[in-house]
Amino acid sequence: MTKSRITNHPILSVDKKPSYVYFTFNGEKLKAKSGEMISSALFAHGIHVFGHHKKDNSPQGMFCANGQCSQCLVIADGIPVKSCITPVKDGMNVQSLDGLPELLKDDEIVKTGGAIPIVDTQVLIIGGGPAGLTAALELGGMGLKCIVCDDKQGLGGKLSLQTHNFFGSIRDCYAGSRGMDIGDNLASNIKEEETIDIWTNSPVVGIFSDKKIGIVKNGKYVLVKPKQLLITTGAREKTLVFPGCDLPGVYGAGAFQTLANRDLIKPTDKLFIVGGGNVGLIGAYHALQAGIDVIGIVEALPECGGYKVHLDKIKRLGIPIFTSHTVLSAEGKEHLERVVISKIDKSFKPIPGTEAVFEADTLLIAVGLTPVDELRKQAESFGIKTYAAGDADVIAEASAAMISGRIAARQILIDNGFDVEIPPELEEMIKILRSKPGPVKGIYPPPKDKEMYPVIRCAQEIPCNPCTEVCVLQSIKIKEPTMMGRPRFEGDCLGCTRCVSICPGLAITLVDKRYDKSKKTARVIVPWEMPKGTIRIGQTVTTTGMEGEIIGKAKVIAKKKSKWQNKRTLVSLEVPFKHADLVAGIQIKKPTIKKPVESNIKLDDDMIVCRCERVTKKEVVDYIKKTGTHDINAVKAALRVGMGPCGGKTCTELIIRIFRELGIDIKDVEPPVERPFNQEVPLKSFLEEE
Ligand code: FES
Repeated sequence: MTKSRITNHPILSVDKKPSYVYFTFNGEKLKAKSGEMISSALFAHGIHVFGHHKKDNSPQGMFCANGQCSQCLVIADGIPVKSCITPVKDGMNVQSLDGLPELLKDDEIVKTGGAIPIVDTQVLIIGGGPAGLTAALELGGMGLKCIVCDDKQGLGGKLSLQTHNFFGSIRDCYAGSRGMDIGDNLASNIKEEETIDIWTNSPVVGIFSDKKIGIVKNGKYVLVKPKQLLITTGAREKTLVFPGCDLPGVYGAGAFQTLANRDLIKPTDKLFIVGGGNVGLIGAYHALQAGIDVIGIVEALPECGGYKVHLDKIKRLGIPIFTSHTVLSAEGKEHLERVVISKIDKSFKPIPGTEAVFEADTLLIAVGLTPVDELRKQAESFGIKTYAAGDADVIAEASAAMISGRIAARQILIDNGFDVEIPPELEEMIKILRSKPGPVKGIYPPPKDKEMYPVIRCAQEIPCNPCTEVCVLQSIKIKEPTMMGRPRFEGDCLGCTRCVSICPGLAITLVDKRYDKSKKTARVIVPWEMPKGTIRIGQTVTTTGMEGEIIGKAKVIAKKKSKWQNKRTLVSLEVPFKHADLVAGIQIKKPTIKKPVESNIKLDDDMIVCRCERVTKKEVVDYIKKTGTHDINAVKAALRVGMGPCGGKTCTELIIRIFRELGIDIKDVEPPVERPFNQEVPLKSFLEEE
């Protein structure tokens, strides 16, 4: 298993002299970076199996890396903890959790009692991601007293995992900047606001009928009584079931980004991805930046659903995309070793004889997001007026989340009698940023009568316009009434490379035909964000066209950091003159040839839907068919699905899907009863300090 930290990354800074702490895992002395989560430290040492399940001894590892699923439990200093949200402490004794944890021997009576502190505030914002932070800044700017609480150690939410540049507009949502930089800026701005209290490491665990909110603030239980409640809890990843989906090595794309982009862990050598939406495509790009071999991406639909510029970028680098395919199974003994895929027909049924097997040690599930909205529902069930923004309200890009946070904050201000309004431009912007990408219409052809010009390979209507905003001569324009149009170049070009540097889709190259008077060759400048050393000056590289088609060979004649975008390199290529308009990128990997195998795959229902309690799809299907129940609570009571430590966060949606597959209208299905506490609360949170 890969045993590695990322030491060479084009975007992230690598701390050359980190401070370390030491811990033991099953008696072996290991080191971890200070502040690092236990799971990341174990991954850094190539340990991906954290224990074995009490029911069937199946290997258990990481799945969400976000404190949601409880797959990553270990025993730390005698206490079962989620390793993905528990930092390593110096001298910590960590053991794998094999079977059930033992109760602590020390059962002295502890001191309880004392009043639970109650904190009043005007607004409580639950979630310190893009929507929560922009909302807090608006509210703080007007002097409203707010608490922003988040279960993580720092602010920024998923922004801190996003090393890529954002779409949208520069003026309204920092387009062209990297998510992690936007997150840092928002977090540091918020610290300046005197009326905002920041509570990190403080999960909200329940909302109650007396309109108080239970929060475990740095390990201690407190109640907050806000006048207004803003939910910006973001989204969690959807999942898929297939045989082997529960093997260690199969996990969410967000978990991968946490490991690679937050903790600089290289968790895999050979990565496969299921899902061709933006999350899967960006996951592949992030993996390549971390020096990981991406074997392929599988997408069930005939076309990938992500932005075409993301897809093209991945294809140009040489990653195979298998559309109209699905994952049949993930195979391996204690950990993923192989992924089996197959073509599917129009009704998404696998086509026998089309199976192909790939060696891979990690399979990312990137099949969409679902709002984390249980707190909102809980609050509304008690008649508490809530406001919501970001993915907790509508799943969309983080740029949309930032605008929706501002809108929600303004609504709160209006409801508090402040003389503000929600500008129509913001309403318009949120509509645009939340809209699905438009049809692919092709690109505007490069000019025939110019010697120097950008070639803009933006063939699809997406909400993005920074190239038009940075062009000094204003030669790049979108003629449609909104930024959803496709940019076109008309006019003159100074060759400043601002457009090449800022395009979030890396879809612009600069052609310089003045380079060679004999017109045998031309210079093409391409944007590059791969690790140091992947290309060298003087090297001959294989060039690719817009959609990854091979164009030919080119010589690298220069490379330099962009003046306008300090983490992007501009690579100058000497290309045959006739290739000047065609070259869009450089291939770093030859597509893997898929190897058809004799299939002995069992396409049965033997796949885990409830990870915590190890319940299979077949058991659920059989029970529903046998009893005719339409009540998820009955399935829970009979089979224990959804009754494990994750509280049904992963499996409830899968159970609903099974009802649907059985032809039962979801409107007729009784939803599960929510637990009063939506996550585990250690009893010691209620104890007095001593
Ligand atoms: S991997 Fe730790 S809770 Fe999901």
